[in-house]
Amino acid sequence: MSRTESPSLQPTASLAGLEDGFARRFSYLRLSLTERCNFRCTYCLPNGFEKRRGLTEELSSAEMVRAVTAFARLGLWKVRLTGGEPTVHSDFIAITQAVAEVPGIRRVAMTTNGYRLAREAQAWRAAGIDAINVSIDTLEPERFARITGHDRLDQIVTGIDRALTLGFAAVKVNSVLMGDLDDAEWARIRAFVSGRPVAWRFIELMRTNDNVALHSRDARPAEMVRTRLVREGWVARPREPGAGPSTDYAHPDHAGTIGLIAPYSEGFCDSCNRLRLSSRGKLHLCLFGDGGIDLRPLLQDDAQGDELVATICKAMPMKRQGHRLHEGDSGATPHLASIGG
Ligand code: 5AD
Ligand code: SF4
Repeated sequence: MSRTESPSLQPTASLAGLEDGFARRFSYLRLSLTERCNFRCTYCLPNGFEKRRGLTEELSSAEMVRAVTAFARLGLWKVRLTGGEPTVHSDFIAITQAVAEVPGIRRVAMTTNGYRLAREAQAWRAAGIDAINVSIDTLEPERFARITGHDRLDQIVTGIDRALTLGFAAVKVNSVLMGDLDDAEWARIRAFVSGRPVAWRFIELMRTNDNVALHSRDARPAEMVRTRLVREGWVARPREPGAGPSTDYAHPDHAGTIGLIAPYSEGFCDSCNRLRLSSRGKLHLCLFGDGGIDLRPLLQDDAQGDELVATICKAMPMKRQGHRLHEGDSGATPHLASIGG
């Protein structure tokens, strides 16, 4: 069987498929390999990674691959490896290879803080990674060190330039919007994308249970950036069907784009196309949902595949129409590293 074909399905499973009660279809799984991270981003793990008490072990590689296989049988074709920092997992390469080989999986992407990008990008590409998102919240080295706890901005930018030579389908930057964007920062970001075919995306800071004070002080609306973009002649690109949540803006003088991911904006959840599996085996229908649905008991043996598929299908109607961040409800999410950002 070729890599793009799905195995035959029971008619009931293929009909129900990965569609929720609001006719949203799910093509994309975010798989968190581990909660661990070596960075200490102020809005995520300000004290660094601390083992949370009473939690079960993280999934084994074999359990992860069984999960991806079940989602792929339901038509899901894209997986993003995330975390925490996925590359601190000692089996990162082997997991990447195994996920890339699951029948039906056509794209494997990853999100990283970039600390090993310069050294490892080639090995990741060879293992089957098609696209990379790198987190850079600021291009001012001292501010970067204050936010992440690591003075490594240069190393990460070198990594991005390296990745750009390796033929990835996309190299994107995620940049959490915190505080006012001053003119110097804006000029650095524009210069960054002027010569690089990189999609820079500002993300509105999302409130989690652990970052309430920071959120109320530093969160800013994406609208603040949109106003600047429009004033400076950037033009919104039409959203492609099945695309992620970003609205990307292009400008004739720039090789890259600047985009906005605005989870607090009206209608943001309407086009949701993703599901999440935490490193502890919980299926999360939303970043800010409840505690998740435990799939681990069904990940123990390949022979459980049909039951696993049926359980995933049954969960779909439970997906809520949208998050309740506006009402200050962050669900059960202490920080994004716990679910897979
Ligand atoms: N709000 C917005 N973005 C966040 N990220 C982590 N925590 C938050 C938050 N509270 C981002 C990271 C990374 C991506 C996976 O999610 O910066 O780029
Ligand atoms: Fe690590 Fe990402 Fe959280 Fe930063 S945002 S601490 S890089 S998991």
